[in-house]
Amino acid sequence: MIHEVNDKLFAGKVVFVAGGTSGINLGIAQSFLACGARVAVLSRSSDKVDAAVKTLHDMGGEAIGFAADVREFDAVRDAFAATEAAFGKADVIVSGAAGNFPALAENMSSNAFRSVVDIDLIGTFNVLRSGFDHLNRNGASIVNISAPQSVMPSPMQSHVCAAKAGIDQLTRCLAIEWGPYGTRVNAILPGPIEGTEGMLRLAPTEQHRAAIEQALPLRRYGTKQEVADLALFLSSPSAKYITGAVIPCDGGLCASGGRS
Ligand code: HXC
Ligand code: NAP
Repeated sequence: MIHEVNDKLFAGKVVFVAGGTSGINLGIAQSFLACGARVAVLSRSSDKVDAAVKTLHDMGGEAIGFAADVREFDAVRDAFAATEAAFGKADVIVSGAAGNFPALAENMSSNAFRSVVDIDLIGTFNVLRSGFDHLNRNGASIVNISAPQSVMPSPMQSHVCAAKAGIDQLTRCLAIEWGPYGTRVNAILPGPIEGTEGMLRLAPTEQHRAAIEQALPLRRYGTKQEVADLALFLSSPSAKYITGAVIPCDGGLCASGGRS
């Protein structure tokens, strides 16, 4: 675990995690904090924001939280402005707010499809676009949380596949546009991660889990820490020549296409 090796890796740095109040993204926020960063988290539920900030404070670090919806540009912009006022400009932005439910396209309304695209893709644009105005651009790292669905067409996931594929392309486009400022933009595709809302929704039973694990080359779910370690690496000086990369952390799922 990177934070056990270097708990000062992000000392003095400011990290903003959109969707950072539960699951994989909270794990990422905790890991940056454990490496010395001051952390801001944002999500819709003020109860979840309060609980996440308490968790981060209980770890002994500095953290603030904002109850806001990534679909609301002005609210996200205000959260970045408040973070800058409290901690200074951001050095790292993690964009991980997302929504998912399994549904066939023929059973989705236009609004159902739009909801996921709005949260995942437009939300990521809102976070990055507003965050860029409050970023220490030279040396900054942006990490988008995508999913294997971005490269693996999957039934019951047309909305997520479309939204996450958009995030991957946005990652590459902004890496090109913002590279000259010294800002790197990368994305992580987490595989099935244990103990998360996402997998509760997609694989609610032990039988589902067993079938998914059998189709993974590494034959197991991943952990939140394994995703967080990649986010830390991508934002560290060790990755300073990496930008525009879309990197699976998925036990081999993307490589195998889900075929065991
Ligand atoms: C068909 C559905 C549906 C379903 C919702 N809708 N669930 N349609 N089948 N199972 C429709 C609703 O009827 C509505 O359409 C529209 O979607 C919006 O629903 P709302 O509840 O009004 O939206 P909202 O409150 O904005 O909530 C967004 C949400 C919700 C995505 C629907 O599930 C959510 O807030 N999720 C956040 C938490 C989450 O999903 N975490 C997991 C992330 S995992 P109508 O037409 O009736 O208005 C992930 C990838 C995992 O992203 C990858 C794993 C490998
Ligand atoms: P999660 O716990 O539900 O995390 C989603 C986070 O986003 C929550 O903090 C949620 O809090 C927030 N959020 C949702 N909609 C929002 C909105 N409109 N505005 C602001 N915040 C919003 O789910 P997870 O399973 O850990 O997934 C985290 C990320 O990893 C997602 O990007 C997901 O696509 C990706 N991923 C997960 C898996 C997996 O195995 N779980 C696999 C691949 C990719 P609020 O409800 O308070 O808003």
